[in-house]
Amino acid sequence: MRTRPLKVALLGCGVVGSEVARIMTTHAADLAARIGAPVELAGVAVRRPDKVREGIDPALVTTDATALVKRGDIDVVVEVIGGIEPARTLITTAFAHGASVVSANKALIAQDGAALHAAADEHGRDLYYEAAVAGAIPLIRPLRESLAGDKVNRVLGIVNGTTNFILDAMDTTGAGYQEALDEATALGYAEADPTADVEGFDAAAKAAILAGIAFHTRVRLDDVHREGMTEVTAADFASARRMGCTIKLLAICERAADGASVTARVHPAMIPLSHPLANVREAYNAVFVESEAAGQLMFYGPGAGGSPTASAVLGDLVAVCRNRLGGATGPGESAYAALPVSPMGEVVTRYHISLDVADKPGVLAQVATVFAEHGVSIDTVRQSGKDGEASLVVVTHRASDAALGGTVEALRKLDTVRGVASIMRVEGE
Ligand code: HSE
Repeated sequence: MRTRPLKVALLGCGVVGSEVARIMTTHAADLAARIGAPVELAGVAVRRPDKVREGIDPALVTTDATALVKRGDIDVVVEVIGGIEPARTLITTAFAHGASVVSANKALIAQDGAALHAAADEHGRDLYYEAAVAGAIPLIRPLRESLAGDKVNRVLGIVNGTTNFILDAMDTTGAGYQEALDEATALGYAEADPTADVEGFDAAAKAAILAGIAFHTRVRLDDVHREGMTEVTAADFASARRMGCTIKLLAICERAADGASVTARVHPAMIPLSHPLANVREAYNAVFVESEAAGQLMFYGPGAGGSPTASAVLGDLVAVCRNRLGGATGPGESAYAALPVSPMGEVVTRYHISLDVADKPGVLAQVATVFAEHGVSIDTVRQSGKDGEASLVVVTHRASDAALGGTVEALRKLDTVRGVASIMRVEGE
């Protein structure tokens, strides 16, 4: 084994960073044996230097992250600050000064992954980010390496634990959205400002990363259609139950049937109770991958939290250190397929639509005609009525999102349709 240690700079020492530092210390001998050289924590950049950090030598702590990454003797920079800046500049500076980078930063990778990979390539260094998607769950490496010889057609996942906790609470207790969010906040699952989670931004960043890797195509954050889950109601769950379904916030990356384009989207959807993703409870994450040769694969586990995320960071750290010792680099960006990313209107799926209508002769026929005029085929219709008003639930066969949008627009114009109570896509069948 080499005796000269590989030097690691840690940028950020919050929930994840402090766990990375702790495990690097407590498992130093194992990590050295696995890598073939010791790894040494050479510096820790923080915002608040006076905070007591158990197990970290205060002499290593600095507020000058830029000086740390410019030192020139750092082998690997571990970035767990999050956000776009200063993380982006620090990472590119690290490459320019000879370091490889391990990052947990989904927002940055989703937004600037291509440029960061190019910077890593230019300097012959690695950029690894297993922890950016679904915490501890091995997903980036399986997609990038284990499935490199296969053809992935679909990635369907629950990649946000906060929203899964809320939806699971709504499903199991019958609570409304706000009540379930309050519980998630009280238990520490939801942030004080839950926007990034509940509006689907966090999941959309993860979907962009997964789609890019799965389809060997650059998928930008803007390419991902995003709908949050704040409008999901207890009534939607009741409807889902009647169909033998539950509701999950799903990240769905798909290759079109003809293979010529891909789509990426995040939105709440009904999913059959028999589907493995339906049984992903509380704040867990799970990702279902469908590929040509392997068939169906499921990845499941904790998608957030200090220790689980640190596990993924350390796995990358070991891989990157091994590469450095071998004088090699791991896989970089693979975007050779360059498939077009189609807009949401071209996505084809099934829909569950609840309408409030007048209960009088001819209304059902009128509604059915609108579906037919837009080429949307109805699978089932259920009506319950009282006092001249009725609730109509229509479940369609597969149709394009554009056709469904046109149908709903036309339905809203009918005098007999008092309102469109909810529209939900049905996935995983
Ligand atoms: N806030 C995320 C979640 C974890 O709830 O899953 C970090 O991506």
